[in-house]
Amino acid sequence: MFNSKIITKKSIPAMSFVALIMVLQGCTDSVNLNNKDSDTQRWYSQAQVEQGEQIFQENCASCHGSKAQAKPDWRVADSRGIYPPPPLNGKAHAWHHPFDMLKVTIAKGTQRGMPGWEDKLDEKQIEATIAWIESHWPDKVYQAWLRRHQ
Ligand code: HEC
Repeated sequence: MFNSKIITKKSIPAMSFVALIMVLQGCTDSVNLNNKDSDTQRWYSQAQVEQGEQIFQENCASCHGSKAQAKPDWRVADSRGIYPPPPLNGKAHAWHHPFDMLKVTIAKGTQRGMPGWEDKLDEKQIEATIAWIESHWPDKVYQAWLRRHQ
């Protein structure tokens, strides 16, 4: 009895790590990043961009700005050391993050002020929102982001 309790406690971090890996792996199934859509020349379709635009304006624009440009002072931390919401338009570092990490950030949120959306948006809606975000990235930024996945 006693022993199995210890094992259970010890395995919790390991189990949540495995769960995270499963989430990360599960995410890649639906989207082929090497796809070149005939309209956008990118992994996403114009329809996804339009769907994402609506989702973004409704849920994200209040913090990140209606064009994902953020507020001018986004580099200035407050007295607790917390930064305002960053731009997502390719100017900050969102493009350093692999696709799956962007998805997990949007689904789960962060401890520094980004709310999680998994209760409100399903996976396809989150992907469409990323499509809209990336539609603001200049080709150089998009290509650099894509190379990180290879
Ligand atoms: C209440 C304000 C708020 C709302 C609403 C919000 N965010 Fe955020 N978001 C933040 C903050 C603050 C950060 C920075 C978090 C951190 O540094 O941990 C962030 C970070 C992010 C990042 C990571 C950016 C990077 O450069 O690492 C992404 C992607 C993102 N948000 C997407 C979204 C999307 C998509 C929505 C809407 C579905 C949304 N956010 C809604 C405040 C918000």
